[in-house]
Amino acid sequence: GAIVEHTFIVGQMNMTHLCKEMLVAVVNGQLPGPVIEVTEGDTVVVHVVNKSPYNITIHWHGVKQQLNCWADGVPMITQCPIGPNNNLTYTFNVTGQEGTLWWHAHVAYLRGTLHGAIIIRPRHGVSSYPFPEPHREIPIVLGEWWQMDLLKASMDIKDSTADDDPSAATINGKLGDLYNCSGVKEDGFALDVEPGKTYLLRIINAALFYEYYIRIAGHKFTVVAADANYVSPLTTDLLAVAPGQTLDALVVANAAPGRYYMVASPNQPPKPDFQHPTFTTRGIVQYTNENHSNGGSSGPGAEGPLSRNLPVVAPEMPDEHDTMTSYYFHGKLTALHPSRSLPVPARVDEHLLIALGLGSVCKKRGQSCKRGESEETLTLATMNNISFELPAATAAGPLLEAHYYNTGSLDMLRELPDRPPRMYNFTDPSFIPSGPREASLEATSKATIVRRFRHGTVVEVVFQSTAMWQSDSNPMHLHGHDMFVLAQGLGNYNAATDVAKYNLVDPPVRNTVLVPRLGWVAVRFVANNPGAWFVHCHFSFHLSMGMAAVFVVEDGPTVNTSLPPPPADFLTCYRKNNPVAD
Ligand code: C2O
Repeated sequence: GAIVEHTFIVGQMNMTHLCKEMLVAVVNGQLPGPVIEVTEGDTVVVHVVNKSPYNITIHWHGVKQQLNCWADGVPMITQCPIGPNNNLTYTFNVTGQEGTLWWHAHVAYLRGTLHGAIIIRPRHGVSSYPFPEPHREIPIVLGEWWQMDLLKASMDIKDSTADDDPSAATINGKLGDLYNCSGVKEDGFALDVEPGKTYLLRIINAALFYEYYIRIAGHKFTVVAADANYVSPLTTDLLAVAPGQTLDALVVANAAPGRYYMVASPNQPPKPDFQHPTFTTRGIVQYTNENHSNGGSSGPGAEGPLSRNLPVVAPEMPDEHDTMTSYYFHGKLTALHPSRSLPVPARVDEHLLIALGLGSVCKKRGQSCKRGESEETLTLATMNNISFELPAATAAGPLLEAHYYNTGSLDMLRELPDRPPRMYNFTDPSFIPSGPREASLEATSKATIVRRFRHGTVVEVVFQSTAMWQSDSNPMHLHGHDMFVLAQGLGNYNAATDVAKYNLVDPPVRNTVLVPRLGWVAVRFVANNPGAWFVHCHFSFHLSMGMAAVFVVEDGPTVNTSLPPPPADFLTCYRKNNPVAD
């Protein structure tokens, strides 16, 4: 493969939307940031130069990083963060994956504006798309514009709830004409199409919070890939994409020439549990004159959109609290056969049931309150009733380094248990684990939770949502591995009966799986990539509250199945010019 090289200058920039100027962190002065376009098998080299005042890392979301965990970009898990005025070069291969992935900062809310697309095309002469070659390919990055200082929230993450300021969804950084500043409409995303041509939309949900529904009035999509794995073509007029997920969808410009809204509307929790309005955005798909592109230019001779003065047709969107439509959408995806990921391993070595919950700790000590203690409490997100805490930035190095050098410090960490400590009716909203909801969420504790797997272990994980999050669904993301999504269901998972629902023939393969609201999802993966891999909710608010763990995969028996040593320029946490302050 070729070498594709980029330089990412991380800096800050003032941007104005809705009459308010905000200072935002961006890469190379762009929002969304630069697109990395590669061919399968290429090597990507990204020089990250940190000109921002923040400690940052960049994560290559969905890139498997086989035998290359050092480049995964998770602070204090795989690397020390890149301090201000410091830099780091990430090198990784993009092998065995085709479609759309993305990159983002992996530091608190900074990923709200530090993100961009990774596009992986088939290798020429070796393979090609399993669908007709599109006329054009268009990255569609869904984000959010916040009327709050994300940077400040990032610095002060421990107390930040980020729940008082509404945000607007964005398409490729634009808010669209539902919004205005002093009567002047905001710019929206616009896509010019030629009648009869096919377009491949590479859709990324880079938003901090919600799943989005996407529709284009008068048009249908054919979904061909999800999370850089091909799916059997699914024709639908509505897409649902959860935070962290990607979808590749073909759109044929076969409607009457005119102008059509492309709408992205959030699928947010039912009121009144969680008041955090995020608003719909829309762009426009507009037909151009056929001769528009015949000359190959949009210079003075070109006509531009023939329909500039026509009214724009709007699609009807699902209700903003309609979680079931998303549930059905996700249930319809299947892998394209034959796929390089299949078959699904039939034998399972370890079963985990991970309940996604809420707990409380005493604020001052950060651990569960003692009996009768009347101290102020802090609400945390949990996995099997433990809330994840990153190893302190004062640690000698990241967890991966401790694992690699076998320092023994991993033995000191808490192990993620196989099951929730107590089995109860997880999805009954009227069931309260212990006492009145506000007063006593389950007492929890904070720890750096790890779970170790021997190389090659086939792991089945059932993620169980709980009524403690009665309002939310949880997009669970696993680093370094793709997961076979075997089944989803509503209510409590029941091992005795729900295995009958498993799709072991052609389940979709994803790196981020949406756990339905008040339901569960079962996934299987092969722990065959040695390293320390973060597994967490991609809803930023849940992640910052601790809904995370680290899966540590041991080396295999040979050099080719073992993690190589860290790269020569690997950062150390305590270097004079890399002060990593908390
Ligand atoms: Cu897209 Cu751990 O993240």
